[in-house]
Amino acid sequence: MSAEHGITRESFEERVREHLAGFPGHEHERLAAAFAREGIVHLGKLLPPDLAAAMNEEAVWLLENHGRRREVVLPTTGNTPRSYRSVARDSIARWGGIIPCFFHSEAIRGFLAEVAGERLHKVPYEPEEFIVNALEAAGDTHGWHFDDYSYALVWVAEAPDPMLDARVEYIPGVRWNKEDPEGQLKELLATRPVRSLYVEPGTCYLMQTRKTLHRVSPLADHCRRTAVIFTYANDHDLRDDSITHETMEAIYEPEIA
Ligand SMILES: [Fe+2]
Repeated sequence: MSAEHGITRESFEERVREHLAGFPGHEHERLAAAFAREGIVHLGKLLPPDLAAAMNEEAVWLLENHGRRREVVLPTTGNTPRSYRSVARDSIARWGGIIPCFFHSEAIRGFLAEVAGERLHKVPYEPEEFIVNALEAAGDTHGWHFDDYSYALVWVAEAPDPMLDARVEYIPGVRWNKEDPEGQLKELLATRPVRSLYVEPGTCYLMQTRKTLHRVSPLADHCRRTAVIFTYANDHDLRDDSITHETMEAIYEPEIA
């Protein structure tokens, strides 16, 4: 894939630096303020149009050639479902080009750190570095959960008509109660407003995923919502030995085993 697009890590880095340097200074401040308030912010056009198109294409190609259906219900997140097709990290590392470039990019991570207001590190757990996920059938959903690490950058490669759901839904400012995930989920859904966001293809959002309960709502019809998920850690995550990986191990059991 990388050869096809003619993209190397160096050329990707240079193009992205140039592109991000064109963002006006007040735009960084606006994004940082929105992120601090909401725990999520839509970043719009983080890549120049040709690289955005290449990301979208690569995600779809990987999905169609190396994707695998996942159908699990996870007790660790309150018995919520994961029903989707996805491509595991190792297949992306082997067959992808621009997605690994994005993950390893210092320019991208530096920009995200400005928005987040703290240092971001590449996630120290390989299976979570990058994943491609697609809701593809009516009822497919990425059920309610928190992530193991603090930040996810989610790139939307394909999105259905806004009438067909598959929206990002979230409740900010909460922390995963691993002792009673189902009780916590019921209580939060009963007492807090659920917010939601539609994200158009070729754009992305940053989320504080350890302090934001989130899901992608069930797809209403047969079509596709495809996303690339990149995971980053903060300083605290790197020191936190309570982080475990049961969710990832359950979803990607065939690959991780
Ligand atoms: Fe997540």
